[in-house]
Amino acid sequence: MTLPLSLPAFRSRIVPVVVITDPKQAAPLADALLEGGIDVIEITLRHPAALAAIEAAARHAPGLCVGAGTVTRPEEAQRVKDAGARFALSPGMTPALLDAVQAAQLPFVPGVMTPGEVMTARDAGYGLVKLFPAAQAGGLNMLKALAGPLPDMRFCPTGGVSPENLSSFLQQPNVALVGGSWLTPADVLTRGDWATVTRLAREASAQAQSLAA
Ligand code: 3PG
Repeated sequence: MTLPLSLPAFRSRIVPVVVITDPKQAAPLADALLEGGIDVIEITLRHPAALAAIEAAARHAPGLCVGAGTVTRPEEAQRVKDAGARFALSPGMTPALLDAVQAAQLPFVPGVMTPGEVMTARDAGYGLVKLFPAAQAGGLNMLKALAGPLPDMRFCPTGGVSPENLSSFLQQPNVALVGGSWLTPADVLTRGDWATVTRLAREASAQAQSLAA
C-alpha cells in the first residue's frame, strides 16, 4: 500500500472553514487571517467560486496553507490540487475518493463519525481524521470515548466548535486541530470587514497559545 502523504506544515491548530462567494475576497481574507495568527484555511467547495478562490488565495499568500474542503467526489481531488490546494478535507470518505486523493498525490483528512469509519481511515494509512459533524457525533465525550480503543488516532473536530468550547476541544489529548466557521461569518465576508476577521482570528489564536504556554 502506498501511504497517504503527510499534511503540509502549518502552525495554527484552528482551521477556519470558509465559504467564499467571490474570488476577490480570497486575498484580503488570507491577509486578515495571517494578521490574526492563523496560517491555514479550508476553502469549501460549496460555491461555484471555490476553485477560483483557492487559486487566488494560494497565489496571493504563499504563507497561508490553503486546503480544499467539502471534497466529496473523486473528480474533485485533481481539480483542487490543480487550483493550488495543498491538502483536502472531506465530511466523509469513500473508496473512490481515497483512491482519487492518492492518485492526485494530495494530502487528505478523511471525515468520520463512527469507530468503524475511524478504523477504515486508519487501514488506509490515515492517522488524522476529521470528526464531522463533531457536535452531533457527541463532541468532547465522543472524542474521549474514541481515545480508549483507538489511542493512536488524532482528530480534527468540526461542526459546533465555538470560542466557548474551543479550549476544551484543544485540551483533549487526541485533538490535533479543530475546524470551524466562526472566524469567517458570511455577512462579515460579504461586507469585506477584514478587521473583524483579524480580531476573531487573533482571539482564537490567543486562546490556543495560552493552552500551549
Ligand atoms: C460546516 O459544516 O460548515 C463546518 O463543519 C463548520 O461548522 P460550524 O459552522 O459549526 O463551525
